[in-house]
Amino acid sequence: ADRLDAAIEAFANGDPVLIHDAADREGEVDLVYPAGTVAPSDVARLRTDAGGLICVALSDRVARAFDLPFLADAVEHPATENHVLSYDDRSSFSLTVNHRETETGITDRDRARTITALSDAAADPAGTDFAGTFRSPGHVHLLRGAADGVTERTGHTELALALADAADLPPAVVVCEMLDAATGLARTPADAQAYADREGLVYVEGGTIVDHL
Ligand code: 5RP
Ligand code: ZN
Ligand code: CA
Repeated sequence: ADRLDAAIEAFANGDPVLIHDAADREGEVDLVYPAGTVAPSDVARLRTDAGGLICVALSDRVARAFDLPFLADAVEHPATENHVLSYDDRSSFSLTVNHRETETGITDRDRARTITALSDAAADPAGTDFAGTFRSPGHVHLLRGAADGVTERTGHTELALALADAADLPPAVVVCEMLDAATGLARTPADAQAYADREGLVYVEGGTIVDHL
């Protein structure tokens, strides 16, 4: 599909892409970036134009190398029991982190620092001292991808990681839900597409990624 090629090319250039998962899943459109080239101005765009939770998804292989658990498995609390979602078997949430060389961790500059360092870490797990580089808790939510990618789970976590893989980038991607500023509800696919057109960004359906990658 042309859209998919355009999305892979955008990623390879460090540009964001919009991904709609599926109408029968969350039905959300996430603004996603390859993590390696995220600048403070990109974090500003994520919090103002997207507005959801700013997360970095890492592949299962990388998460394993750094011993990053699924949060629901790691925390012994009754609230984490039976953590089945209405639209999926499980959440991909892992730890939250900050780069150790950040101040509060929340500023655009600090989050960009954490995010780009996560990409460097994902590019070279063997050469990274994860706990020496990051501390937890922090202000960037880590997500852990399914071991078998989109054949196992079709969340934004796996969809965005599939794009990074196709673009030959490290398995570290930023995802953030696009919310409607006026209503606070998820932006509709039509509205998100209009935003993409206005901004010259690529919009792609999760199904297209699942079918072709
Ligand atoms: C974290 C989420 C988002 O939906 C994000 O897209 C990752 O989740 P998933 O892989 O389940 O789509 O809830 O803000
Ligand atoms: Zn999602
Ligand atoms: Ca969500």
